[in-house]
Amino acid sequence: MGIAPDRGYDSDLDNPNVAGVHAVTARILDGKALAQQVRQEITAEVALLKAQRHVTPGLTVVLVGDNPASHVYVRNKQNACNAAGMSGQTLRLPADVTPASLIETVESLNADPSVHGILVQLPLPSHIDERAVLTRIDPLKDVDGFHPANVGLLASGSPRFVPCTPLGVRELLLNGGVETRGAHVVVLGRSQIVGKPMALLLLQRGPGGDATVTVCHTGTRDPASFARQADILIAAMGQPEKVNADWIKPGAVVIDVGMHKRADGTLCGDVHYPSVAEVASAITPVPGGVGPMTVAMLLRNTLQAAQRS
Ligand code: GUN
Repeated sequence: MGIAPDRGYDSDLDNPNVAGVHAVTARILDGKALAQQVRQEITAEVALLKAQRHVTPGLTVVLVGDNPASHVYVRNKQNACNAAGMSGQTLRLPADVTPASLIETVESLNADPSVHGILVQLPLPSHIDERAVLTRIDPLKDVDGFHPANVGLLASGSPRFVPCTPLGVRELLLNGGVETRGAHVVVLGRSQIVGKPMALLLLQRGPGGDATVTVCHTGTRDPASFARQADILIAAMGQPEKVNADWIKPGAVVIDVGMHKRADGTLCGDVHYPSVAEVASAITPVPGGVGPMTVAMLLRNTLQAAQRS
């Protein structure tokens, strides 16, 4: 449910949103600050694991080709691992690597006991079938939660590794005091990385779950009409600033998973922040919202993989 204060509107004439005089500015759900806090907690747990069991959690990221955005994401992930006292490594493979050679790399990481987490950065070059690679990762090292075994565990209600971005969104909602139980959550996008696992997570029983979930996608007629019914709107469709104030129910909580570079080099999300922030009760910024939480949840999954090893 939204967290807007009761403004006690008697009629639409009193409602600044309806009248077009936007007096309300949304509370910012600060992912950067929360991620910092989570990373401090993880750092302490890593130190404990090292002291008590002489185990250093290790994450290896496999990066194929030279997608510039992937290079930035992977550097952030590796640096975050190392800052938490984990062992973070990146294996860089050329864009023309054969599928067999990439799978061989994955198999050797599966067999390496110092590697607790394996992440193959997506997207892969078009000559490689992503599914054929992801299914070869040991499900117990699949800190991305993309292996069908982990997807199945989430779908059947006993999650093991859950994809990091949806986990980060749930953490932002829980920490921000946003009640999901009974709330109508509309997820825009059905990707394997965000939209689909996000919906499954919101359907789980318990804190951060128990929501009524609608998923909109490229086949949905008039997605804005669904978005306007959302108590919590999660935008993950990958279209720069597509969601504007007309898509938002006054007082809704808006989570922006998008990340795009404008022509002038500045960043934006899937949500048109300036207009939506005047209608929503709470909103995540881009950058500094979901992105840092994704990295923090990757560290948490890697720590868990090492603890279970
Ligand atoms: N590309 C964009 N987001 C992700 C992610 O969470 N994991 C992987 N492996 N690749 C991505």
